[in-house]
Amino acid sequence: MPTFYVTTPIYYVNDRPHIGHCYTTLLADVIARFHRLKGDDVLMLTGTDEHAEKVITRATEAGVTPQEWADRNAQAFREAFEFMGFSQDDFVRTSEDRHKTRASGYIQKLVDSGDIYLGDYEGWYDPGQEEYVTESVAKAHDYTSPVSGKPLEKRNEKNYFFRLSAFEERLRTYIEDHPRFVLPEARRNEVLGRLRQGLQDVPVSRAVRDADGADWGIRMPNDPDHRVYVWIEALCNYLTVVDTDDRRKYWPASIHLLAKDILWFHAVVWPAMLMALDEPLPGCVYAHAYFVAEGRKMSKSLGNFIEIDQLRAYGDRFSVDAVRWYLATQGPLGSTDADFAHSNFVEVYNAELANGLGNCASRVVNMIHKYFDGELPEARDATVHAGVDWPSLTGGHVEQAEVCFSRADLHGAGHQGLAIVTAIDGYINTTEPFRLAKRIEGPDDPGRGDLALILFNCAEALRIAAMLLLPFMPSKAAAVLEMLGASAPGDGGLNEHAKWRGPQGLKPGTPVAKGPGLFMRAEADEPAPTA
Ligand code: MSP
Repeated sequence: MPTFYVTTPIYYVNDRPHIGHCYTTLLADVIARFHRLKGDDVLMLTGTDEHAEKVITRATEAGVTPQEWADRNAQAFREAFEFMGFSQDDFVRTSEDRHKTRASGYIQKLVDSGDIYLGDYEGWYDPGQEEYVTESVAKAHDYTSPVSGKPLEKRNEKNYFFRLSAFEERLRTYIEDHPRFVLPEARRNEVLGRLRQGLQDVPVSRAVRDADGADWGIRMPNDPDHRVYVWIEALCNYLTVVDTDDRRKYWPASIHLLAKDILWFHAVVWPAMLMALDEPLPGCVYAHAYFVAEGRKMSKSLGNFIEIDQLRAYGDRFSVDAVRWYLATQGPLGSTDADFAHSNFVEVYNAELANGLGNCASRVVNMIHKYFDGELPEARDATVHAGVDWPSLTGGHVEQAEVCFSRADLHGAGHQGLAIVTAIDGYINTTEPFRLAKRIEGPDDPGRGDLALILFNCAEALRIAAMLLLPFMPSKAAAVLEMLGASAPGDGGLNEHAKWRGPQGLKPGTPVAKGPGLFMRAEADEPAPTA
């Protein structure tokens, strides 16, 4: 069984979970669900990054230990992800022993190999981001943080360094030879462009100060007076979690998902560390763009972050699956930002879910109730009807969905399922079963065979559409399958369940259930739900 390992960034434990964290994790979840359906042996990982200096500060302010503070906040992420219906196989916290021990082992290995050495560092530090910025970036932003706008600090210290410069050539060749290693294309060009300017060694530790408080973070294994720089150990999480006998098979990761803000660490620093550790590189580093809110960049100063509570309010009003659908298909998957705008949410919700999937499902089921007493009718086996070749139409969309998933194109993948729904609607409009029904005189009328065929085809196509939509909308798509009396595909079920009228296809005589409407239509001008 092929393995498939998908990761998300591990999120700063100080933050409140917001749309950005949910978005990347949702992408991972949808991709993971699809791969499970395909039959891959999947590991989906997400988690929290806990050793930031800010955690010590905030814990102290709150009068608790950093561990207590981290426990509390990590729980908020777990709850948010549970609400979103995420199916992560593991949730890593960098304060866990399994992470600390192994990360520290990798650092030691790099010290032993000479890839980490002790040197002097002077540079511009962004305390908010916990990272140094280069002289040119610092200057371009007038020595303030490019992210928060707060003043940068000039820091001067003895640090351990990672010999990043030594990997410049190998990295460049690797990225050039593997066009799908860094995606999307625009991000790949950005990385290659920066690589051409040359690489400098990066600090991986800083001396522990008294004020730094307790035992937080990971010490340099060879020099406990130094704490490992949080970014360096955080990156190790992807490997520490699978560095066990039973999980080694998952490495290298198939895809690291993240946003453009942390591209450099993932596309350059981490691969170089892996090269130094003699580890194979992940299949793909995918850096999407940002969600903005109602046309404005989200920021702490504007206070306009769409936090989990607001997503919950949307979930309560429109269903969690509608939120998942909207984020996954309208999100900033490519290199341009996407807007979370309420009016757009309502438009997509009405068009694709309420009037799309939901309406189609209730139309089909209602007609089966009206004309065939709620049981799937026996239908003749006509491959092409009314100009629609259903087996190849549905088969084509299943195949396309697979292609889209292999490119991490979730918008495309989601729309394969929706395209089947649109085809069903079109087929109903051309064949007009409601008119046909009116013309039928008695049970022996040959028109009844046509009516049966039309409704059976609609139901069978809907079944395949619902299967393709399962990774996006696990409960709503399962509800459609249930309405049709279809069995839900388990892990590895994709192929068998994709077959038109195959062994997993709908069976004549099966009762279909009228279920409540899947998605209640929304008023175009209804206000945004508030937390
Ligand atoms: N802790 C580091 C990551 C270490 S990974 C080894 C970190 N954490 S973070 O909490 O700031 O999360 C950053 C990530 O959150 C982004 O890369 C992206 O995945 C997600 N998002 C944060 N804001 C976002 C948007 N506005 N839009 C979409 N995703 C964004 O960086």
